Amino acid sequence: MPSAVPQPVFSQLTRAAIFLVATVNTGTEPESAVRALCGDLAALLRAVGFRDLQGQLSCVMALGSEAWDRLFGTPKPKDLHPFREIHGRHHAVSTPGDLLFHIRSTRMDLCFELATQITSRLHGAITLVDEVQGFTYFDDRDLIGFVDGTENPVNQAAVNATLICEEDTGFAAGSYVIVQKYLHDLARWNELPVEAQERIIGRTKLADIELDDAVKPSCAHNALTTIIENGEQLEIVRDNMPFGDFGKGEFGTYFIGYARSPRRIEQMLENMFIGRPPGNYDRLLDFSRAVTGTLFFVPSATLLEELATRDSVPSTEDSALTGLEAGTGARSRPAPSDGSLGTGSLKIGSLKHEAGHE
Ligand code: HEM
Repeated sequence: MPSAVPQPVFSQLTRAAIFLVATVNTGTEPESAVRALCGDLAALLRAVGFRDLQGQLSCVMALGSEAWDRLFGTPKPKDLHPFREIHGRHHAVSTPGDLLFHIRSTRMDLCFELATQITSRLHGAITLVDEVQGFTYFDDRDLIGFVDGTENPVNQAAVNATLICEEDTGFAAGSYVIVQKYLHDLARWNELPVEAQERIIGRTKLADIELDDAVKPSCAHNALTTIIENGEQLEIVRDNMPFGDFGKGEFGTYFIGYARSPRRIEQMLENMFIGRPPGNYDRLLDFSRAVTGTLFFVPSATLLEELATRDSVPSTEDSALTGLEAGTGARSRPAPSDGSLGTGSLKIGSLKHEAGHE
């Protein structure tokens, strides 16, 4: 029986990254080009990555909700929806994005070369709406000076946190990802005494030790992003990267969080932007502004390749002509009787984990 192989969502933290967010242009040709790339990405990655295997080049390709409807119709990953903006003490904006490419390596030139190959393959088919080149800042620090990524789950815990299992078997070994680009007001942040910064993050700045509960405020960043449900901590895998642009005067953190359900990331965002309880919000946001926000589904590598062979989804006009339901832009395909996507039952080999609680 074929097993679904995940994309490298929890690959090791690397030195360099490029985040590309794009929309798919209208028309059947752009849509076909994107479908074709789903099948070609692995070969492109092999070709570029082979030039230096030590460079550990990896790429995750993910699809937004509207793009999924346009390109693949139904069945659809059950929790895939557009990013929901949050109006709390601060505003988490929702911005367009049909495709995400998260490219990582120990070498920026490898990331750059793969981004070049992908964007030339999709020339005329996509419009880039955001591009960020991230770098490692000293010992995995953000530009605000704190080590970022310490409490990330690793090994089996990372698998459990990120990969869909029984909760949506047709999309097993897939994942969800939310990205947000944050711009820091570094001048104001750096005016704060270090002790005040530490209470905002919930860890010490130099040694990166978690503050004792006796002194850590309930609005500390690491307190508000800790979610316990039925005695279990609902974790996500982050791979934030600092970035900067002197010309634009923009300096920030590119947040990227992977999880088997978007709900747990959304809950963290609500805690940060609205507060837990409401009003007890994340003071990091007084110094960091989210200027983008998009949610994507990451198909397993197995499904990604298979998506290249899908038929095109008729446009709404075509649907009206053929008597299919108009207005959804999506075509219903007869579902295989086993509830899978027709590849046989998808199994994540030895990766076992419990059903999601969300
Ligand atoms: C300006 C953007 C952000 C910055 C600079 C930032 C920075 C940090 C830092 C320095 C830590 C402590 C070290 C660590 O455990 O990694 C941390 C922890 C964490 N952050 Fe963020 N973060 C940002 C946004 C977010 C967002 C948007 C989320 C989720 C929606 C999030 C989720 C988490 C989680 C889950 C932890 C670990 C909590 C724990 O278990 O201790 N972060 N972040």
